[in-house]
Order: sequence, then C-alpha cells, then structure tokens
Amino acid sequence: MTEIVTNDLPAPTTAYDVENAVLERYKAGAREAQPALCCPTEYEGGYLEGLPQEIIEKDYGCGDPTRYVKAGETVVDLGSGAGKNCYIIAQKVGSQGQVIGVDFNDEMLRLAKKYQDEIASKLGYNNVHFVKGKIQDLALNLDEVQRWLEKHPVTSIEGIGALEAECARLRVESPLISDNSVDVVISNCVLNLVRSQDKQQLFQEIYRVLKRGGRAVISDIVCDEDPTPAILNDPELWSGCIAGAFREDEFLEMFEQAGFYGIEILSRQEEPWQVIDGIEFRSLTVRAFKGKDGPCLERNQAVIYKGPWKQVLDDDGHTYERGQRMAVCDKTYKILTDANGPYHRDLVPVESYQNIPLEEAQAFDCQRTGIRHPQETKGLDYRVTVTNEGAACCAPESCC
Ligand SMILES: C[S@@+](CC[C@H](N)C(=O)[O-])C[C@H]1O[C@@H](n2cnc3c(N)ncnc32)[C@H](O)[C@@H]1O
Repeated sequence: MTEIVTNDLPAPTTAYDVENAVLERYKAGAREAQPALCCPTEYEGGYLEGLPQEIIEKDYGCGDPTRYVKAGETVVDLGSGAGKNCYIIAQKVGSQGQVIGVDFNDEMLRLAKKYQDEIASKLGYNNVHFVKGKIQDLALNLDEVQRWLEKHPVTSIEGIGALEAECARLRVESPLISDNSVDVVISNCVLNLVRSQDKQQLFQEIYRVLKRGGRAVISDIVCDEDPTPAILNDPELWSGCIAGAFREDEFLEMFEQAGFYGIEILSRQEEPWQVIDGIEFRSLTVRAFKGKDGPCLERNQAVIYKGPWKQVLDDDGHTYERGQRMAVCDKTYKILTDANGPYHRDLVPVESYQNIPLEEAQAFDCQRTGIRHPQETKGLDYRVTVTNEGAACCAPESCC
C-alpha cells in the first residue's frame, strides 16, 4: 500500500479508504464486543444501572463527556455507537431535554435502537432519537439520501450531478440538524476517526449546530507527537482510534480556528492508553463555547482578574492584569461573568453605577486604555461620603 503523507499542512491524506475501514470495524464492533477498541473509562455513578448489558459492553468511548450536561438541555452525540452516552444523557437532561445520537453505521444504529422502548419505559419518557448522518456533514440526512437513491439509482455522470443536487437541496430544505439548535454537542472517541481532509469541516459543523452560548464537550484520543507515516498508513490503526488522533496542541487549536472561546482541558489521562514508536496516545476531554461574535457596546463595565497569574489573555487578544479593573464591552462582560461560562470564577465583576440601557449604549472604543478608572464606574459627579462615625468601633463583629 502506498501512502501519501506529510506531517505539515495541508492535512495528510491516506491511500486507503478511511471511511470504509472505520465503517467495517464498527460494524464488527456492533456485532461483537471488541476489547481492543476499549479504553478504560469511568462514567459518573448510577446512570449505567438500568442499561442493558449489551449497550454497556459495546462501549468504545475513551472519556466521559456526559457528566457535563444539565437538565433540560438539547444534546447531540456525534458517533453515538451503541447509544451508551445517549442513554446516560437521557437520564441527566430529563423529560424536558432531548438527545440526538448521530452515526453513519446502520448496524450501530440498529443496536442503539434495539433497547430504546425498554429504556424509555423504565425512565417513563422517550427523549432520545438516533439519526443517520456523517458527523462532518450534520445537515445531510443519510436516510433521506438512501430513499432518494432507491428511486434514482446512480449509473451515469449525470446521475452523480443529480445526486449532488439532491444532497444540496436536502441540506437546505430539511437539514438533519439545524443551525443554532443545540445546547451541547458531545462526542466520545469519534472525531479522530474522521478523514484528515474533513476534520476542519467537522469543527465548523459542531459550531454551526450549537446555539449562541452553547458548548462542545469532546472526549477523544490525542497524541503528544505527530503520528509517523507507518502509523498513518495502517487502516487498523486508523479505525482503532490511533492514526487519526489529533496532536494534543492542535486539537485545541481546531476549536479556536472554528470560532470557539473558553477552550479548556477538563481531563487528560495521566498514563497513555497506548504507546507506538514512542508516541503516546491518551484520552483528553475538552470543553469549548460558542458565541463571542456581535457588536461591542460601551456600558462602563470592568472586570478585575483575581490571579494567581500576573496576567491572562483571552481568545480575542484582551489582556487582564491581575488586580486591575480592566474595561470591557457589554458582550465581553456578559461572557466573562456568566455563571455557566468558563471565566467567572477568576474575575470580580465591576458594574457601572449608572445603568446605560443597551439601546442607548455607544460603540465600545477598542483603542482606549485597558484600565477603567474608578470614576468611569461611579460617574464624575460621584461625591458620596460614608463614614463609620457612630458605629461601635472595634466591637468583635465590627470592621475597623
Ligand atoms: C469509537 S466508536 C465510539 C462510539 C460511542 N461514542 C461510544 O462511546 O461507545 C465510533 C463510532 O462513531 C461512528 N463513526 C465513525 N466515523 C463517523 C462519521 N464520520 N460519521 C458518523 N459516525 C461515525 C462509528 O460508526 C462508531 O459507531
């Protein structure tokens, strides 16, 4: 087998059919549990108790992204396999939430659906749907494509054109997953399996389907150095979650390039899962948020970075100096102080004393000095005097 590989950009391509290798390996994994594909993983307690043994055994995950979802949320699971993550999340999001498992493998989809009624009757509700799609093309419903192909078998070049036109129509008119429709996208050990040339589009798709303020929580296999050509050239290693693994620094950069903010490593397996030619492969769970675009409006807000670092830099290049009240626009203030967001624990919010209604707010001056003077917060006319006169000084509970 010849390999066309470079370790530099553009992404390496492989001479074998990656998708087919992955499809065949996980069809086999749906039929029979494959111990070689298992990376030991601990799931948050209690949620596995009511699940059928077959679903538990045919687990090919490498982390636990399910612990980061909340009641009432709509969650998409990319590469849902036997459905274990979906069924755990079904319990966490409750009857008001929704779970959509996406996989392109009919056998895995059949296995995931096999116990759906049984689990729903135990829970008392059914909030899980399994759909057929490629995770790098979440707008295209592959069941619809299949139905179309049965009526219009492709036997000519013109037929290919007609199929492409139908796929384009389906993406627009009946997308499998709509823009801005999902609170959380999770995935457990699947992104690495996508072809190198499709990986950038995969991150763009995750971004597209998330609502503003939504988040991705992804567990995947990463490596500390670029895989060698020999590793990349091995279809078994690709479908075994090794050859397509992201280099750990590049994995985080992929989120950044897609427009995410607040990107954070939530867990990193200490001991490598596998070591090949000295290259370490281990599981990493990363969270990243969507929603930092939009106008910058001035409402005289500031934040104080608590430390311990001397200064930190956000994804838009704003620097926050420890202990300084840094001026921020309204949009950034909301992101930084959001109790469900990634930053609020590290910052003290400083609101303006005068409320500036959003509709009256002027554009934030991005050229201004980074530090907000206290008089900007309080107003130039602020002349209040408050003393402790009359208070019982140095009583045990007083502040002197
Ligand atoms: C390693 S298994 C992980 C399954 C599941 N997340 C778990 O934790 O057990 C990978 C799954 O992703 C599916 N898959 C791989 N590449 C895919 C793609 N490009 N689009 C959709 N599904 C894919 C496979 O069919 C398989 O079910």
